[in-house]
Amino acid sequence: MADTTQAATEGAEYSEDQIAVHWREEEYVQPPEEFKAQANANDESILERFSADRFPECFVEYAELLTWDKKWDEIVDTSNPPFFKWFVGGRLNASVNCVDRHLESRGEENAIIWVPEPEDSEPVEITYRELHRRVNEFAALLKEFCGVKPQDRVTFHMPMVVDLPVAMLACARLGVIHSEVFGGFSGHACGQRMGDAKSTILVTMDAYYRNGDLVDHKIKADEAVEAARKEGIEVEKILVFRRIPGEYHSQSEMVEGRDFFVDELLPQYSGQEVEPESMKAEDTLFLMYTSGTTGRPKGAQHSVGGYLSYVTGTSKYYQDIHPDDTYWCFADIGWITGHSYIVYGPLALGTTTVMYEGVPTYPDAGRPWRIAEKLGVDIFHTAPTTVRMLRKVGPDEPAKYDYHFKTMTTVGEPIEPDVWRWYWKVVGKGQAAITDTWWMTETGGFLGSTLPFLQPMKPGSCGPEALGIQLVIYDENGNEIPKGSGKAGYICVRNPWPGRMLTVWGQDERFIDTYYKRFNKDSNSKDWRDWPFMCGDGAVEAEDGYFRILGRIDDVINVAGHRLGTKELESAAIEVDEVAEAAAVPVFDDVRGKVVEMYIALKPNVSAGDEEVAKKVSAQIERDIGKIARPKNVWVVPDMPKTRSGKIMRRVIAGISNFADVGDVSTLANPEVVDQIRDHVQSEKRARGEDVQELSKHEEEEIKTFGASSE
Ligand code: WTA
Repeated sequence: MADTTQAATEGAEYSEDQIAVHWREEEYVQPPEEFKAQANANDESILERFSADRFPECFVEYAELLTWDKKWDEIVDTSNPPFFKWFVGGRLNASVNCVDRHLESRGEENAIIWVPEPEDSEPVEITYRELHRRVNEFAALLKEFCGVKPQDRVTFHMPMVVDLPVAMLACARLGVIHSEVFGGFSGHACGQRMGDAKSTILVTMDAYYRNGDLVDHKIKADEAVEAARKEGIEVEKILVFRRIPGEYHSQSEMVEGRDFFVDELLPQYSGQEVEPESMKAEDTLFLMYTSGTTGRPKGAQHSVGGYLSYVTGTSKYYQDIHPDDTYWCFADIGWITGHSYIVYGPLALGTTTVMYEGVPTYPDAGRPWRIAEKLGVDIFHTAPTTVRMLRKVGPDEPAKYDYHFKTMTTVGEPIEPDVWRWYWKVVGKGQAAITDTWWMTETGGFLGSTLPFLQPMKPGSCGPEALGIQLVIYDENGNEIPKGSGKAGYICVRNPWPGRMLTVWGQDERFIDTYYKRFNKDSNSKDWRDWPFMCGDGAVEAEDGYFRILGRIDDVINVAGHRLGTKELESAAIEVDEVAEAAAVPVFDDVRGKVVEMYIALKPNVSAGDEEVAKKVSAQIERDIGKIARPKNVWVVPDMPKTRSGKIMRRVIAGISNFADVGDVSTLANPEVVDQIRDHVQSEKRARGEDVQELSKHEEEEIKTFGASSE
């Protein structure tokens, strides 16, 4: 107890800024020269073309990367803020842009290379011509058998198989809105989203490979039907792809008249071509559900023209994609990253995009590098969590394989400078530019990043604002934080941009409330300048205009009135040599309101004892941030509870630390660790006399939702 009180009084010595931002500004790392000449952005004039005074014309450069049936009359209609409409009057079709228009020049080139998880199965190559055939046939099935019309919604609950992008592009061809629910989510989550989208058709699969097992997936469709029914939606048709042709690997029974095997229906549509619908630019291409601070998942509604322009332009300049590259984004298409940067952006550019069915470390941590070597991948895109995982399990694996990346990107979380350096030296072999891409589901594409061969990299910073994006940071009171002051605040986008979602599906009010209300000073204003878009992250801008992202504003732990970014605590912990992964959670505390507890997982073959490492972690945090942030406990755990997409479920460990309900753990990738961690932590806490606390309703709620936005 003594140190708690001491820290509480000492806290006054620490300024808010010191606490909010601890990552030292790192030195620039210059990108390798080798690939600069071939880069799409290899000439500084691009920065001029996209400067703030060129708004909104600058984005025409992105729109012109597409093929339009009819050119737009107006670049952006801002007359009804914040419902901005891009390329008004323009007409186009997304599947034509991603498939048909490449047939002449690249018909026999690979559009997609699909790598099944079982390593003895050969990768499957799908040329643009083959993709065109499959998209058309599935579109014919949807149109004739399901009777869908433009702007109807079709829900997918699909794993990482080629049928998923085929189905997406088939919907796009018909002007139908697709809504893919991440395959790892439960059937219940899927059904809820069907209810929200009022979608009566589900596309799913019987089973898929994960970690060496053929996992039953169709079983979730039964749950989805029930959940949708509760929302007042009766599922009419379930189209079931089969993972292994001719076999059925699910316990779920096919329901006559409702469930259909796609491979039994498709022969009727063999060779059929479907006329693509000419869609308005501001029509809806898809919904992507995402969770917010409270309430139900929101359907981020993305447009055909604006979205496709934005992801194509950013894929071109930030990922440096050329048609003859072999590009691998190691994400799941069930997330926005997969939509924008596995499917739409890369295919619109006519490149070869790689999809991998399984987990990164199956059967071992050399798998990704064997795939890269075998396929000749030259652009690699993944999340820091995957980088950390691969570093933990196979730190020496990359060196064993002969692949060569020109660019590597990261997305989804800040990357700790230490992890960045391993990525740079070991994965990239010091030869690839690293692009840290910061953005979110709602924004369609990148907001902050470096142009790979033009702008130097700075580990831990995502970089300056993306082309044509004007970022601004506000403080609590809505005042602009001056550039370079090093003060943390709420990062917003000042101007409209084409990739932004149109609205929250069916909830315009919620759209305004969540993203605009806080920093809009006049709700009647018709001037877009009065409508900054609140991204939901805390951030700091350095003098050079590079941004450091501190994490979701709801991931902040308030200790004795001071806000501590969970990411900062975690990155401090990870600086300790033995630590592979770290997560910070709040624990309610009588004296300080809340204190921090750290959970850490160790690298393999660590010789130091748990207690010794825990001490080092505390010391490191104290060193990096200050005494105020010293964790109450540091728990060494065998593994972090994680979502299927690899994000740490902080609410689960926060629940354990607070002796509170951990909530639903059924969607975890590793639910078995929860009991293990609970037994260890809670018995230890009892022994230390850290008694079970009675939490108020509000506190319980806070724990339950802690970190939810980053799941
Ligand atoms: C976080 C994923 C730091 C951020 C594209 C954001 C990042 C949330 C980065 C959105 C990055 C994403 N550096 N943080 N490069 N990229 N984030 O909607 O907190 O799944 O608000 O979109 O992820 O997550 P979402």
